[in-house]
Amino acid sequence: MAEASELQSIHERWAQDCTCELKATATQAVFGNGNPSAKVVFIGEAPGKNEDIQGIPFVGAAGKFLNEMLESIDMKREDVYITNIVKYRPPNNRDPEPEEKEACKAWLHEELQAIKPSLVVFLGRHSMNHFFPDLKISHAHGKLVIKHIPGIPTQYFLPLYHPAAALYNGGLRAELLEDFKKIPLALKKIAEENLKESSLL
Ligand code: URA
Repeated sequence: MAEASELQSIHERWAQDCTCELKATATQAVFGNGNPSAKVVFIGEAPGKNEDIQGIPFVGAAGKFLNEMLESIDMKREDVYITNIVKYRPPNNRDPEPEEKEACKAWLHEELQAIKPSLVVFLGRHSMNHFFPDLKISHAHGKLVIKHIPGIPTQYFLPLYHPAAALYNGGLRAELLEDFKKIPLALKKIAEENLKESSLL
């Protein structure tokens, strides 16, 4: 599959070239993972302890919850692609600094260009604010954002609460589970829009 080898070379090159200072303290780079031809790409914040050890995104408690939510909409990890804004674990899971996000930015954008997803789902405010700095997650969650961003191959974005924030907060958890149902609805809308566009050609 062309996308798979393209992604592998993107990861190998950026693991060498990335100037993120977190490289010094992290065990390894945590590459994005999943289906290279996925229609949906999920973008989290940064690897945590388990991800840093295993080198795979979302494998800890938040990842388990994410898998359950995927199942609730009849999707599996193998159907989607999951990555992070920052590819290295910040010490003690602190928030990534703006320079750390900036250092990993081109890496993320190249991943998106290789996959060309129909929909990007933001897991949490860090991921959403990377693309939409003015949005507030408490207001934007669960609402499809349609915007053309130069260099980004989709114009459809869905902000969600971060699964780690919702894990131990009953209210947020219920909202996140409800918002997850918007993913298949958004995919259906995008497919209909694409069909409309192609019939105009
Ligand atoms: N939280 C994230 O944002 N990313 C991970 O990979 C794991 C937990």
